[in-house]
Amino acid sequence: MVNLQALVRANIKNLQPYSSARDEFHGQAAIFLDANENSLGSTLSQPLNRYPDPRQSALKEQISRIKNIRTERIFLGNGSDEAIDLLIRAFCEPGRDRILIMPPTYGMYRVCAEINNVAVEEVPLQPDFQIDVQQVLQRVDPSTRLVFICSPNNPSGNLLSRRDIQTILDQTRGLVVVDEAYIDFCAQDSLMPLLKDYPHLVILQTLSKAWGLAALRLGMAFADPFIIEILNKIKPPYNINGMTQQLALEALDQSTRQQDMVVRLIAQRRRLEEELKDIPMVETIYPSAANFLLVRFNQSEKVFRQLKKAGIIVRDRSKALHCHNCLRITVGTETENQKLIETLKNMQRDL
Ligand SMILES: Cc1ncc(COP(=O)(O)O)c(C=O)c1O
Repeated sequence: MVNLQALVRANIKNLQPYSSARDEFHGQAAIFLDANENSLGSTLSQPLNRYPDPRQSALKEQISRIKNIRTERIFLGNGSDEAIDLLIRAFCEPGRDRILIMPPTYGMYRVCAEINNVAVEEVPLQPDFQIDVQQVLQRVDPSTRLVFICSPNNPSGNLLSRRDIQTILDQTRGLVVVDEAYIDFCAQDSLMPLLKDYPHLVILQTLSKAWGLAALRLGMAFADPFIIEILNKIKPPYNINGMTQQLALEALDQSTRQQDMVVRLIAQRRRLEEELKDIPMVETIYPSAANFLLVRFNQSEKVFRQLKKAGIIVRDRSKALHCHNCLRITVGTETENQKLIETLKNMQRDL
């Protein structure tokens, strides 16, 4: 049995959290003189002088409806990056506990761990970018408080095997964090239905990708209510600002628009794949379930430089494990993709 209580750092368990003015009184009143806000108004035309709802109740209700999950199972962060940081801070004792990651993967897991003086255990993905389950299970011990699994994985773009993730969930007692930042590009594959069976599963999602709201900074963690309460306890009181709460509420009403963008981006991804296949200096196009492609060139450094000269910036991932000579290319608009392909074809001609 997983004992969530035992996983929390003792100082966090004993922490008396900050209680903000909006925690102590919420509701309607004629006069608010409890939060040292500016009673005259704000310097902008929007009414921004009041602190936002620290529990983001309206937004959580909306997300609850869309994702079909109870509000007690939702934590909202200033990007999913905030949730990653808070999970490490709540569950890993600095200098003692560890997280386990599977490179090549999203860089913030390591950075957040290192900021918090938490050791990082690496079990590389296999060359096909799937999990080495046996190695993971061998390396997990009671000090491994969090296992980070990114699916679809960044930078490789593939979904990780659901069966492998379930095996890890079945055989480990720390938290298993599945980062689904790109899941809206293949929504049917979300592991959210597993939450009810695994109290130690945490799923991260974000509005930064398919919803097109990276600037708003809204990340979501879905988990057992106990884990959510711990995250709420240690978050800065007003971590989701008022504009973000308001705009996210409006945006989440536009799910048809989101789905339409997803369909168009997937179509563009397929088109990019087709076109890239015909360029001889492209060696491998890795299968993607996200809004980007990992592509191996025969000389990625040169390609990267030439693209940059043409004003096209892609991400050089050539130093990452199994990613020798690889560039990560975000799917652009039709015109941007056209320009990218033309530039690559010209480069090929000039070789
Ligand atoms: C796998 C993964 N997780 C999380 C994030 C961060 O998302 P957010 O914008 O919600 O902080 C990214 C951003 O690129 C990502 O690739």
